Amino acid sequence: MTKSSLLVLLALASLFVAMTVAKKLARPYELCGRVYCDTCRFGFETNVTTYINGATVQLECNDKSDSRLVFTNTTTTDENGMFKFIVDRDHRDQCCEVVLLKSPWPHCKVIDKVRSHSEVIITDLNGISSYIRHANNLGVFQDYALPVCAELYKYYFPDPDQES
Ligand SMILES: *[C@@H]1O[C@H](CO)[C@@H](O)[C@H](O)[C@H]1NC(C)=O
Ligand SMILES: *[C@@H]1O[C@H](CO)[C@@H](O)[C@H](O)[C@H]1NC(C)=O
Repeated sequence: MTKSSLLVLLALASLFVAMTVAKKLARPYELCGRVYCDTCRFGFETNVTTYINGATVQLECNDKSDSRLVFTNTTTTDENGMFKFIVDRDHRDQCCEVVLLKSPWPHCKVIDKVRSHSEVIITDLNGISSYIRHANNLGVFQDYALPVCAELYKYYFPDPDQES
């Protein structure tokens, strides 16, 4: 084998290796969601819910076959409690989720375990082709329920006997 044909072979081999790593997407995914303060401690958002700025959210992707953590990125929420990850590669062979790590609000920092994470799909499988992806909103319990919540309780948890 000549030296130049060996070089061609090496070039092809390294190209093959590069192709097995997910290539950069023409248009990156925008993965969004919000972090809320559960001011009624109901376990979900109400019309008196507030949104936490400066909360830390992590995106984590685990390999589907061996659950190895293969990708993470961290961001913080803006003044509307919004977080956004720009993801420029496909994560087809991974299980990804966003995880709420920390709230900076002294009276709203106990993370609701049920609403602390949200699975997200970062690939175009299942007919989802939009580049915008929404995670479920992530929640934190306020230390005390607002007084108005007693009234709201009847609205969100209606007494079944009083209906019909
Ligand atoms: C929230 O919803 C309740 C029930 O519909 C309503 O009475 C109350 O005025 C609303 N509060 C706000 C701040 O929108
Ligand atoms: C991490 O997220 C930020 C904000 O979305 C983004 O600008 C950056 O490119 C991401 N880093 C990686 C390695 O994906």
